Amino acid sequence: MTIRIAGIGTSLPAKVVTNHDLAQHMDTSDEWIRERSGIGERRVGGITSEMALEAATNAIEKAGVVPADIEFVLLATCTPDQIFPATSTQIARGLGIRCGSMDVNAACAGFAYGYAAAYGMMLSPGGPDRMLVIGADSLSNFVNWTDRGTAILFGDGAGAAVLERHEQGALLGQDFGVAGDLREILYCDHDDTIVMEGREVFKRAVRAVTQSVQNALEQAGLTAADIDVVLPHQANIRIIEAVCTRLAIPMEKTHNVLEHTGNTSAGSIPLAMAAAEEAGALQPGTIVVMTGFGAGMAWGSVVVRW
Ligand code: UT7
Repeated sequence: MTIRIAGIGTSLPAKVVTNHDLAQHMDTSDEWIRERSGIGERRVGGITSEMALEAATNAIEKAGVVPADIEFVLLATCTPDQIFPATSTQIARGLGIRCGSMDVNAACAGFAYGYAAAYGMMLSPGGPDRMLVIGADSLSNFVNWTDRGTAILFGDGAGAAVLERHEQGALLGQDFGVAGDLREILYCDHDDTIVMEGREVFKRAVRAVTQSVQNALEQAGLTAADIDVVLPHQANIRIIEAVCTRLAIPMEKTHNVLEHTGNTSAGSIPLAMAAAEEAGALQPGTIVVMTGFGAGMAWGSVVVRW
């Protein structure tokens, strides 16, 4: 018995901030932001638990189950509502269920970590039959809106997946790593705003993601040519293009939402997944790579047979 994703749901806050809006009060332009990042607009004003609950509710509905069928809630986030309790407890509360729950913080790579952790839990003795894995972040609350180096990139959003035991679908390979010595290139202290050395993060991300996808593919006994769908962390379209060039994967195989969402951190891989599903790209047997990177510096990739 393996595990499939039975339903995907998303949530984005209502308020849209366009590049033109940002250019009103900082020295930047729509043209520069689009050319350097691929981002056109982002959603702001989100609360992590609210977006996560909405995405979870949508995923449960899509999976054709009810909240009582969920046996564990895993939330990947680096922007919890409070220091404690874990924000996942409030998602369980909102769903009206009393199963186990936990938060995972791997910053922007969180969904890949969460998926692999959930998969392992479900296959362990007595593990849950059905789990919610959610990626949700509200980084707009931690952006310095006068810093053009970061304000142009981040937005709020959430995506959720219902994982269930099934003969369809399997985790084929995985690769995770951190370089803790790179903390200084991207961090956010308590009660403060995001600090980032953009160019350095960019360079490191391209290298780390390329190597990570290669490692996960090798484990799966596959090559880049076997990949049908890439669900990359949505940070910058040029990072995605650079990784695809290095791996010789056509950009057409990637599914991207960043033009309209910006970088939603842990929300970005499941948001890209929902877009891929919408495009009809996720069929039984499809080989999918989810790959993320971010603060830590942490990265992670999973190769999945849909
Ligand atoms: O989840 C992980 C999160 N982080 C990332 O993935 C970030 C990765 N990094 C990036 O996406 C890019 O580094 C940025 C989009 C942040 C910046 O793009 P870049 O191509 O690396 O630009 P840069 O920092 O090298 O700056 C190039 C020029 C500089 O001017 P000079 O020195 O050449 O005169 C900057 O001052 O562009 C200037 N600049 C801007 N101009 C207009 C920097 N930010 C802006 C801006 N608008 N927003």
